[in-house]
Amino acid sequence: MEEHLKAQEAAHYLEKAGIGKPKIGVILGSGLGNFADEIEDAVEIPYKEIPHFPVSTVQSHKGQFVFGNLFGKAVLAMQGRVHYYEGYTMNQVIFPIRVMQKLGLPSLIITNAAGGINRHYKTGDFMLIADHINYLGTNPLIGSNEQEFGERFPDMSSAYDQQWISEAERIGRESEISLRKGIYIAVTGPSFETPAEIRMFEKIGADAVGMSTVPEVIAANHMGIEVLGISCITNMAAGVLHQKITSEEVIETAKRVRPDFIRLLKSLIKEK
Ligand code: HPA
Repeated sequence: MEEHLKAQEAAHYLEKAGIGKPKIGVILGSGLGNFADEIEDAVEIPYKEIPHFPVSTVQSHKGQFVFGNLFGKAVLAMQGRVHYYEGYTMNQVIFPIRVMQKLGLPSLIITNAAGGINRHYKTGDFMLIADHINYLGTNPLIGSNEQEFGERFPDMSSAYDQQWISEAERIGRESEISLRKGIYIAVTGPSFETPAEIRMFEKIGADAVGMSTVPEVIAANHMGIEVLGISCITNMAAGVLHQKITSEEVIETAKRVRPDFIRLLKSLIKEK
């Protein structure tokens, strides 16, 4: 079955389950899922009930859509996502984005936990993603192109919406939430990087490293969905602070910055 037909089936299921046309989508990264509690009149739909939908094996991810209202806007949040390192195909990793497009979604905020490479960053910082480096060694659009989604060779010269980034910078200043702006490099994981890899990433211009987001951003650009990317710097990358990196630290930091993260997301949605 072609991907666009699968996505259509999943979208139909969601529509029957009470999900309307979303104005804004939010993908919530590791430890950042609680934002969904802010959504009013929420309808929750577990991924496992949705036809063709991949279900995450990562424990810190809940695995459901939450649809509802925030400041009078229809918001569709994803509590949890699947990653390439879990063994899913790229088609599975980007499937949720394709379903969102079928629901008519125009704009998407993609969040993640990332390691800080830039030495001026510190644990707990937020970084607006200005651009990315795809270091996955693959691309989610490899395979026959389904014209229903977009063209064969999509442009990626402004993958992250510049106007939305400027708007986010203004919101950050007004809400006194300090925001960095930098380049995200995507690796497959699941092992964290070596210090030598991080030194290389620093040299090629990366500010933060993570194991998600880039496939989804490529798929969103393919389909003409506007993207804002936000990384939470949950730890400094390997070798930067000469200490071990643990997934516990990643989750701990994400929890610690949660109030500011929620405040930021709410303002972004309010002003959109
Ligand atoms: N490396 C890769 N992915 C990550 C990291 C990291 O240091 N922290 C959170 N996600």
